[in-house]
Amino acid sequence: MTTEELKAEVAKYKWYHYIDLGDGIVTPGIPLFRPICDWIGQTVAASGVDYAGKKVLDIGARDGLHALRAESKGASAVVAIDNDLSAAARDLVLPHLKSKIELRHQNLYDLTEKDEYDIVQFFGVLYHLRFPFNGLKKVVQVTKIGGVIMIETGMLTHPLLSQLEILWCPSPKNTPYDPSSVAFFNEAGLVAAMESFGCERAGNTEYFWDQGGGNTYRGLTIFKKTSNIVHGYWEGLHTYHSRFAHERSDWKPDAP
Ligand SMILES: C[S@@+](CC[C@H](N)C(=O)[O-])C[C@H]1O[C@@H](n2cnc3c(N)ncnc32)[C@H](O)[C@@H]1O
Repeated sequence: MTTEELKAEVAKYKWYHYIDLGDGIVTPGIPLFRPICDWIGQTVAASGVDYAGKKVLDIGARDGLHALRAESKGASAVVAIDNDLSAAARDLVLPHLKSKIELRHQNLYDLTEKDEYDIVQFFGVLYHLRFPFNGLKKVVQVTKIGGVIMIETGMLTHPLLSQLEILWCPSPKNTPYDPSSVAFFNEAGLVAAMESFGCERAGNTEYFWDQGGGNTYRGLTIFKKTSNIVHGYWEGLHTYHSRFAHERSDWKPDAP
């Protein structure tokens, strides 16, 4: 494809990400989100996460910027999913860059893998979920024990609430972001939720930008999956976990 032909192809699509296609051509993403995309890349790089030889899942990949970065850093395989697939990524970016990324039109909730990925990138999606705990559970389910989960999302940062583990679920009418943004954990709430899925935080939450104009900053936290344990009271069938279970002579606590 000549440079002029490539420019003409780029002009056919609506873009979210700025992606360098070579020959001085960069896709025209949404200016408002360019700084957060750049910041995510810088923050991940500064964290020292090592992609070499790793199997990576990028959830909510949009035009593929963060999946491409993982591939360029040496990931052995990259799967990128989005429930609103970017035709630009599928038809132009990935073929043009000869990327081996497996791009799927798929909802996070429909992932079926178990303990599969070394690194899961979950950038800019969690605050869009109406079922955020189900989403986090899936994210953890698909990650290997010992694997890394990077969560970038809109966070509730109101200082008076920082001691409480909070998930704020505003109605679409009352959200500080766009109407599809309906789930804002605070830092304590996100850490508590991830711990209950068997994950430990692997660093401080880094904050960037108050996108909502008051106490809802974008923040990135890295977790490590250390076990598959979910407390047995919260799902499935159980015999020993009721409030009075400790009074039974055969009661035993959950295995650690
Ligand atoms: C704000 S964009 C973020 C794009 C990219 N991850 C980034 O950080 O630059 C959110 C993306 O997540 C996708 N998304 C939202 N909910 C999803 C879900 N349940 N499963 C898969 N993708 C989802 C949207 O279609 C959109 O492309």
